[in-house]
Amino acid sequence: MQRLDMQHQLDEFDNRAAAMEAADDVGSNPSDTETIGDLVARRLGRRDILRGALVAGALAAAGGTAGLFGAPKAAAAAKGRYVFDEISHGVDETHHVATGYDADVLLRWGDPLFADAPAFDPAAQTEAAQLRQFGYNNDFVGFHRLSADRAVLCVNHEYTNEELMFPGLGRQDKKDFADMTPEFVAVEMAAHGGTIVEIARRDGKWAVDTGGKLNRRITAKTPMTLTGPAAGDDRLKTSADATGTKVLGTLNNCAGGMTPWGTYLMAEENFNGYFWGGKEAAAAHPHAASLKRYGIPGGWYSWGRLDARFDIAKEPNEVFRHGWVVEVDIMDPASTPKKRTAMGRFKHEGSETIVNKDGRVVIYSGDDERFDYVYKFVTNGTYNPNDRAANMDLLDDGTLYVARFDADGGVAWMPLVHGQGPLTADNGFESQADVLIDTRLAADKLGATPMDRPEDVDPNPVTNKVYVMLTNNSKRKADAVDGPNPRAENLWGQVLEITPADGDHAATTGSWDLVVQAGNPADPEVKAMWNPATTENGWFACPDNCTIDAEGRLWVTTDQGSGWKKASGTADGVWALETEGEGRGTGKMFFRVPVGAEMCGPCFTDDTETLFVAVQHVASDGTKDWAPFGRESTYDDPATRWPDFDPKLPPRPSVVMITRKGGGKIAV
Ligand code: FEO
Ligand code: CA
Ligand code: CA
Repeated sequence: MQRLDMQHQLDEFDNRAAAMEAADDVGSNPSDTETIGDLVARRLGRRDILRGALVAGALAAAGGTAGLFGAPKAAAAAKGRYVFDEISHGVDETHHVATGYDADVLLRWGDPLFADAPAFDPAAQTEAAQLRQFGYNNDFVGFHRLSADRAVLCVNHEYTNEELMFPGLGRQDKKDFADMTPEFVAVEMAAHGGTIVEIARRDGKWAVDTGGKLNRRITAKTPMTLTGPAAGDDRLKTSADATGTKVLGTLNNCAGGMTPWGTYLMAEENFNGYFWGGKEAAAAHPHAASLKRYGIPGGWYSWGRLDARFDIAKEPNEVFRHGWVVEVDIMDPASTPKKRTAMGRFKHEGSETIVNKDGRVVIYSGDDERFDYVYKFVTNGTYNPNDRAANMDLLDDGTLYVARFDADGGVAWMPLVHGQGPLTADNGFESQADVLIDTRLAADKLGATPMDRPEDVDPNPVTNKVYVMLTNNSKRKADAVDGPNPRAENLWGQVLEITPADGDHAATTGSWDLVVQAGNPADPEVKAMWNPATTENGWFACPDNCTIDAEGRLWVTTDQGSGWKKASGTADGVWALETEGEGRGTGKMFFRVPVGAEMCGPCFTDDTETLFVAVQHVASDGTKDWAPFGRESTYDDPATRWPDFDPKLPPRPSVVMITRKGGGKIAV
């Protein structure tokens, strides 16, 4: 979810997006890591010479932006690897895909997932019904093939928008959520988590199989275990669980990942927002410094008023049981999901796996907050493709690293290991459990590089490079810019590339480069950087999720939140982004979401014939700034009723399936 900065107080807000944006300020990183202000000029200069790629910023500096779009020579060079006719920037009530492709709605909020599931009835929602139906705000999409025409789709349900979910409720005062009933909250909790559902392909298109034996809903109440080095620690014990190993549910699952052994990684992002209790309770908490660093309590939901588990004054340790990566065995719908504490606790955005050349498994993750860090986890054991059972607890044993990006273009991965460097009892870390529960505090001590909101991080198995979506950071000051975060008041974000040393993802060194500085290349004030072959529709702002297809090509989706008008003026979408050769840094628009939505997923099938994308919080963000509507949306008065356009139905977050008309690989 997006939290572009706004300068107002929480109680001045009239929508959830804005509340989340402001709450994001609470836990901002106070670390004073050295800045390297002149770096970007040097780095970009070197890159330009090496690659011969003209950049918009350089053109602008050399005397204006005329001719930026469609520079003929570069355009020919960049035609390259993504073969489709791009669509236009714009905003309207529906979705758009490139000519020659179908974009079919596959799964909508409320769609039945089981043969006995009730049909969606938004006027009579119940917890029991929602537990058998597709949840709200679909984000990550994962695909696991079972056979030629059968697969499992895994979809995260990040959060809920009560004003768009419940008829007659309207927008709630976030101070007390006065009209939120226990019944509404139970539906919200059941609409969180994830969906695991079998899909079958017929005539080139996938359809949900409500009879699938693997179908499952995971929610904010699903029993889970805490495993790994922090499991059983005193700080993970609550009045309901004296063992510190049993927890209910997962929260705010944003980007995620799949493992090669058929498990689904649900990364817990803004878990702080669900906790309640006020400033006094936070200050009196035995781990007040930790709570402050994580922005707890966020108070974004009414749950803490109705359920003591989410009130830090009543249940001080529950909050330490969230902010982890959850691993789910999708082949056993009765399995207990595991929160893997070895992978650290922060606002995990994404958890994308690559099998390293030595067989160890490496998983990359961003910590999505302004001035937070990029992480990777390296297992001690190796992946065994012939013994599934041997892989099932690989994620309990390994080393978590945090990244430092140096002025000379180097990357240092620093281990978060108790007893090493400053991670000792003298500095408040009594054990590895302390290091993992307070990953952010430990990473501060190591001098990690504060980034412009790291979102999805995807390794490319074809090139072995790694792509980090840095979405934006309007709080970065001019005296705090550095190489990978080169712009002050950065509303647009950038795409960072990491090259591991010797193609070894377990290495503690590597190098970095920027692929693009997002935003409008025709506006010199933006200081965007694109390959000049990028057209007026090919640039984007606020990269968030991404994926690499089987051809080794990068695809980026955006989330501009309520700041879309200022950031780009177009709705979010899917863009191809070339990373190789003369075309490097060229964007191309493939899909666009309806007004108020964020573009999530994206997920290609392994044959590149289907692209699943998740249209999240449709009709929600920034609808006030869309002139034809001009106001905030509610259930009863939404900016669009996508995808059904039925006056009796609200807008519904949905997964869309994109295929080529007549079949075949996408963009090939
Ligand atoms: Fe849920 Fe960082 O986006
Ligand atoms: Ca995201
Ligand atoms: Ca991804």
